[in-house]
Amino acid sequence: MKTLVITSHPYPDQSRVIKALQDAAVTLPEVTLRNLESLYGQNLGGFDLAAEQKAYEAAERIVFLFPIHWFNLTPMLKAYLNEVWTYGWAFGPQGQALQGKSMQVVVSTGATAHTFSHQGLVQSTIEEVLTPMKATALYVGMNYLPPLVFHEVVGASPQQVEGFQQQLTEMLVA
Ligand SMILES: Cc1cc2nc3c(=O)[nH]c(=O)nc-3n(C[C@H](O)[C@H](O)[C@H](O)COP(=O)(O)O)c2cc1C
Repeated sequence: MKTLVITSHPYPDQSRVIKALQDAAVTLPEVTLRNLESLYGQNLGGFDLAAEQKAYEAAERIVFLFPIHWFNLTPMLKAYLNEVWTYGWAFGPQGQALQGKSMQVVVSTGATAHTFSHQGLVQSTIEEVLTPMKATALYVGMNYLPPLVFHEVVGASPQQVEGFQQQLTEMLVA
């Protein structure tokens, strides 16, 4: 399936897991990858609107790949949605560019799966933490696919990171 992967990490030099996942994704034939910080640094208002919107034309599935920082999107990813998913393009009377496409979120977390449970410290599942992405997808007429989540990744062994890459690859080639 033709897939557009939008990656964001505010501290690219410190990234291990998201970088490894990005490296795995970019090798796949049906994947086009855009890394927001590589393209725009930390410039929250610097997006090339035409190029960003054009990237969706051929894509059937949009994957957002980022680390969970303070139970949220990265700053550049939030800014990207604000700037690129415009009225008249993503929503509004003529805004149908994303309708019928699928959205899938891929995230890494430092905390354990138990922390992300109703019994755990944050009393919320990762699916609940990602509610803004689900609502965003449904609002613009996309199908929201279950997220792919890598928990407890800090200090993961090279073999574990390879396993994460394998899981992402399997998802992307399906
Ligand atoms: C500023 C900051 C905030 C973080 N907040 C969270 C958090 O809210 N929940 C969580 O589970 N992990 C949190 N973490 C851990 C990151 O999710 C983890 O370091 C990241 O997923 C690892 O991917 P990377 O190697 O690409 O950076 C945080 C890390 C940083 C640096």
